[in-house]
Formats: sequence, structure tokens, C-alpha cells
Amino acid sequence: MTPSAASLYDRVQRVIPAIEWPVFSDDIDAILKLKRERNAVILAHNYQTPEIFHCVADIVGDSLALARKAMEVEADVIVLAGVHFMAETAKLLNPAKTVLIPDMRAGCSLADSITPHDIRLLRQRYPGVPVVTYVNTSAAVKAESDICCTSGNAKAVVESLGVPRVLMLPDEYLAQNIAKQTDVEIIAWKGHCEVHERFTPEDIREMRAAHPGVTVLAHPECPPEVVAEADFAGSTAAMSDYVGTKKPSRVVLVTECSMSDNVAVEHPDVEFIRPCNLCPHMKRITLGNIRSALERNEHAVTIDPAVAARARLAVERMLAV
Ligand code: 13P
Ligand code: SF4
Repeated sequence: MTPSAASLYDRVQRVIPAIEWPVFSDDIDAILKLKRERNAVILAHNYQTPEIFHCVADIVGDSLALARKAMEVEADVIVLAGVHFMAETAKLLNPAKTVLIPDMRAGCSLADSITPHDIRLLRQRYPGVPVVTYVNTSAAVKAESDICCTSGNAKAVVESLGVPRVLMLPDEYLAQNIAKQTDVEIIAWKGHCEVHERFTPEDIREMRAAHPGVTVLAHPECPPEVVAEADFAGSTAAMSDYVGTKKPSRVVLVTECSMSDNVAVEHPDVEFIRPCNLCPHMKRITLGNIRSALERNEHAVTIDPAVAARARLAVERMLAV
């Protein structure tokens, strides 16, 4: 049976108040119809709001899962409910398909922190040292890199190269957190995620004092002093898996706010403590602009073919690890 907004509310009623639902239901029904008409799928990152994540998305996950699953898409159109670098990655892996991002302004402070020129200068300064680039970068930056990584596979990627030293760009904190787990020397850049850099070790200590017994899960884009205070650090998918397998009675996800809502839907038995920071870029994506994207075929992601060929190699090398 084809789902409708009415049949989907049960799923999200713990995180979306009934009074808000009428605001969403019309767009949800329209999007479900448009997906069928256009043979489209929606890929949504774990930071999307629950009415997107649980009600219209076909494929959900962390950056690594979205890249992997983008390769398997058979539909004609991919709508990326996430930020611009994710849509570019989907386009790199599906050059013949239409990839739409509902708001072109959905950027990322990490992607903005480094340019292709910076990488060329770094290569002059560190000749022969491979460049490992976080997927949170533009296609033009990926094109200057040897291999990409995500927070879910960074250690494996760094170690796969079989070299004593790598440049790992642009997230300084992810690089420092991975450096603690490997013998490979890691040279970092000074980029930061504007969501995760705001958490402090004091925040964690205060949460533990206010909520005794709470399990603290942190994203590795947080500063190392924050990760040191946590019980576990991992990508958004790893945090979600931790809740599913370990079933902590109380948990705090030290990351973007929508994560807790999305994971809470699956785990009614777990108490979620909610200090979090919003990503303004992720929040640019709404049901309204997903609907317009499908109605108007906006905004199609394009990448210069010469850049795309080189950037694709870096992403494909990562996916082969
Ligand atoms: P992951 O979902 O890969 O952990 O990435 C988090 C993030 O900040 C994406 O923008
Ligand atoms: Fe970029 Fe951080 Fe927002 Fe993710 S959460 S898109 S890394 S600014």
C-alpha cells in the first residue's frame, strides 16, 4: 500500500506534536506523489528533521552510507536532503542522473575552510605526503586529493595508504581525534565544524552532574577535549548503532539536534537528554523546498567534467577501502 501522511504520523508522534502535523501533511502527500511521478528518490542525512527523515526519505544515513547507497540508486532523479557537498558526492557517483539540492545555500563551514589552491600549496610544502580529504569539501578540493574519508572510515582510510605520514584536511579536530587512534603521523588543517566546535568539556561534565548515569556519545568533529570526556565517539551512524545495540537507559548525543529526534523514534525505551547545536545549513532543507525541487526540477547539481573525473577517483578510492 502506498503510504500517506495520515498513515505516517504514528511513527513520528513522539517527536512531532499533533498540533504541528497539519503544517507538514499536505507537503508530505505531495512529495510522495511527486516521487512516483518523477521516478525520484530522496537521500536524507541523519541531521534532517524527522518529518523529512522518517516521512519522505527513501535512503537515510551518515555521509558514508549516503555515498555508498547513492551508487546503487536506479531512479532517474536523486533529491539530496542534506548539504551541498553531499549532493555533489551523489552527482560524482551518478553523473548521468539528475541530482537536486532543494536549497543551494545549504553549505558547510568545513567545506568553506579550504580551497583547491590551499591544497596545491600544501603539496609544495609537504612533497610526496598523500592528501586525505574529508568528504565535507567541494568537488574542486576533492579533485586535488588522493583519497577521501568520512568520520566513519577515517582511521581505515589513513591506514590503508601504508605511509608514515598523511595530510588530513580540513577538519582539525577529526584529524586530532584520529591521530590518537593510529601510528600514522597526521598533519591537520585549521577547519572546524561550526556545530561541533561549540561543545566544551564543561558541557559534558554539567550533563553528567545533571543527569546521573547518562551515556555520552560524541561526534569526532568535536574538539579532542570533548571526545575525551565522552563514553564513545563515532560518526552519526556509529552513534545510532551504539544506541540500538547497547540500549543505554539515558543517553546524550553530542552533535546536531535532529539526530536525537531521529534516533528516539526508533528507541522509545531510551531517555534522550537534549543539549545539542543546530546546523543552520542542514536546516535550510524543508519539506516545502523538497516539494519545489521535485515540481520545478531545482536546483540541479552540475560539476565541471574535468574536475568531476578527478574528484570521483578520490571518492571511489575511499569506497574501495
Ligand atoms: P557523518 O554523518 O558522516 O558522521 O557526518 C556528520 C556531519 O557533520 C555531516 O555534515
Ligand atoms: Fe558542516 Fe558541521 Fe553542518 Fe555537518 S554539521 S554540514 S560538518 S557545519
